[in-house]
Amino acid sequence: MLKIIEYPHPTLRHRSKPLRRVDAELRAMIDQMFDLMYEAKGVGLAANQVDLPYRFFVMNETGDPEQPDAQQVIINPVLSRPKGSAEQEEGCLSLPGVYKPVTRPAQIRLNAYDLRGQEINVELEGMPSRIVQHEADHLDGVLFIDRISESDKREIVGALEELSIDFDAKQHSGEIASEDHVNRRLADLERLRC
Ligand code: NI
Repeated sequence: MLKIIEYPHPTLRHRSKPLRRVDAELRAMIDQMFDLMYEAKGVGLAANQVDLPYRFFVMNETGDPEQPDAQQVIINPVLSRPKGSAEQEEGCLSLPGVYKPVTRPAQIRLNAYDLRGQEINVELEGMPSRIVQHEADHLDGVLFIDRISESDKREIVGALEELSIDFDAKQHSGEIASEDHVNRRLADLERLRC
């Protein structure tokens, strides 16, 4: 059973390797990721947010499970040709309660593969561009709070501290594995499919 991990879980800082193999088990995990994303009222969820070291994410810009046509699985994304600049408030399912404006390129080209192995090659703007850039960052171990202004960083110190205290307590009680264990598990999973 997958679940969404929260800051400062070490897997959120893991830089994922390209996915080489999609098997039935991984497909089942992707279904679970969509369920978790909708349940949390999100529009995107990256693999390392459910403690998986793989280079893919799921998204649905409508956030609406009744609109499955808008669902996308983006595998091994490569972003290029950034154009323009846009500022928009972002949040993250791994940073509950934290929202701050982030400046990113307005347009971006996305090259990737979908779940059927078909190539994706599109120019994105607006909401899809924002989601893809946020989720692709996750795969490199980057969080949106790394990209906010220094004054906004100072404003969220307290919120991050609370999340850290929570995390430490969960690790202490054994609800979250030790960092060594987390890293060993990620290495094993990578050997399986990367
Ligand atoms: Ni996020």
